[in-house]
Amino acid sequence: MPYKDMREFLDVLDKDGQLKSVDVPIKVAHGDNELQALMRLLCQNDGPAMLLNNLEGYNTPDIPIIFNPFGTRERTAMMIDCKSPLESKKKHAKVLGEVSTWIDPVIVDKGKAPCKEVIINEADVSLDKDLPHVWFGKEAASYITGAVGITKDPETGDRNVGCYRLTQLWNAVHPKGEDYSEEQQKKDLSVFAFWNPPMSHIGVHLAKATAMGKPLEVAFACQCDPAIHLAAATGVPFGQDEFQFAGGLRGEGVELVQCETVDLQVPATAEFIIEGVFIPNSETEIGNHSNPVGYYDAFQVFPRFKVTAITHRKNPLWYATMEMIPPFDHNYQALLPVETEVLSDLQRKIPEVQDVVVTPNMTYVVQLNVDGARKPHAEFGKYILHAVWGSAGRWGRTAKIVIVVGPDVDPYDMDSIEWAIATRVQPATDTIINESGQAFVLDPSATKGHHGFPVTGSQLGIDATMKVPERFDSYQEVSMPTAEEVESLAEKLKGVL
Ligand SMILES: Cc1cc2nc3c(=O)[nH]c(=O)nc-3n(C[C@H](O)[C@H](O)[C@H](O)COP(=O)(O)O)c2cc1C
Repeated sequence: MPYKDMREFLDVLDKDGQLKSVDVPIKVAHGDNELQALMRLLCQNDGPAMLLNNLEGYNTPDIPIIFNPFGTRERTAMMIDCKSPLESKKKHAKVLGEVSTWIDPVIVDKGKAPCKEVIINEADVSLDKDLPHVWFGKEAASYITGAVGITKDPETGDRNVGCYRLTQLWNAVHPKGEDYSEEQQKKDLSVFAFWNPPMSHIGVHLAKATAMGKPLEVAFACQCDPAIHLAAATGVPFGQDEFQFAGGLRGEGVELVQCETVDLQVPATAEFIIEGVFIPNSETEIGNHSNPVGYYDAFQVFPRFKVTAITHRKNPLWYATMEMIPPFDHNYQALLPVETEVLSDLQRKIPEVQDVVVTPNMTYVVQLNVDGARKPHAEFGKYILHAVWGSAGRWGRTAKIVIVVGPDVDPYDMDSIEWAIATRVQPATDTIINESGQAFVLDPSATKGHHGFPVTGSQLGIDATMKVPERFDSYQEVSMPTAEEVESLAEKLKGVL
């Protein structure tokens, strides 16, 4: 059964003992806050999801904050009703690859849409009080990270849905000491619309609309059924509809409802909907911005839109998350589609590929189902390294570190990967330095191109398979009990440990 909304997902976490309701006061004010420390505390230890009920320095005290709901690989798999990370990747890749399994959204009447329980019209919109504001660390603006952005291609009318962050200008500090006007602070939001290479699809829509001299309408749906958030974080090919893909993942069409002020449809059970229209040539500087590779960007330049309506549920919930040195809450939500993109491409042509794991620091680990003499040919590991850099989609080509391991190495466990490198790799012969790779746009160690972000960079591939037949006829036996043996001993010692 698909989740109807975010609340049903939270109920499942709660029943599973993975959600804590917290009444301890937590500070979230600009310049005096504790959420970044809380994220660190929880994500370092695979901690639970939380509902924070008592926030200090908060403009909307009646709206609790959902914190760390997707903070483990297991909870990320649960977003699409799966029990393990590999099961979720297989399901995600299968549905993504078979468009015939996608399911059309269903339009519902406004009266049946919980997201319309409260309606705030354009004239009454005042973002200092209509949307929650939370600060995590030293960032200059308050972020909205739990939203999916919906736009239509101004040429074709095709819909795009993507996970893009927004910054609020209310009480924000301008990176160059200028002021955001009171009108901007209360009526406008800025969107991270150009961030991903080659360009996010909302950015393509906006560029087209600007070239055509047309306004671009936008709607952001906050806190939906998690399958919608995962679909929106996936690099679905341009022109295809992420809501249909989400329907395929859910096994049932997403319920959509018509917006109040723009010609767009949004998930009916979302907690909040923000409607608006991009302001032409409104590029706005914002910063500090805390990024997912763990540094503060001094500033970013993004377009603004004017909010034309806000609708929300009665007693709504808000979701707040932050990027910082990994791990952090939505790491795995963002990584699962990346893993799937590379895994499905490799598996289509190389049946020996079993799993692809991208670590929170974006090292790509490819696990094979064969090793040693069972590899199809000598130097097979190096062939896999090149296949990752040449894989279809947006991400494989930017893999800075790729490691290939055999089936006895756990690709989710850095100790296990390090053991394979320590005992199966001679750096001079079993690694590749690719000097002309595509850099990950946020890598601060790569030289910046003229747009201010890196384009090319070098890459490291490590073939950590056993070098049979390349160097040896056979390899030494591994000294390790089986997982079943460890489990059965744990059972026997239950009362002791
Ligand atoms: C929580 C979260 C926040 C994200 N924020 C952004 C963002 O601000 N800008 C961006 O371009 N991509 C962001 N991403 C990644 C995109 O959602 C992802 O690349 C997606 O494929 C973009 O959709 P598109 O291909 O339709 O443009 C985020 C992902 C997650 C999970």
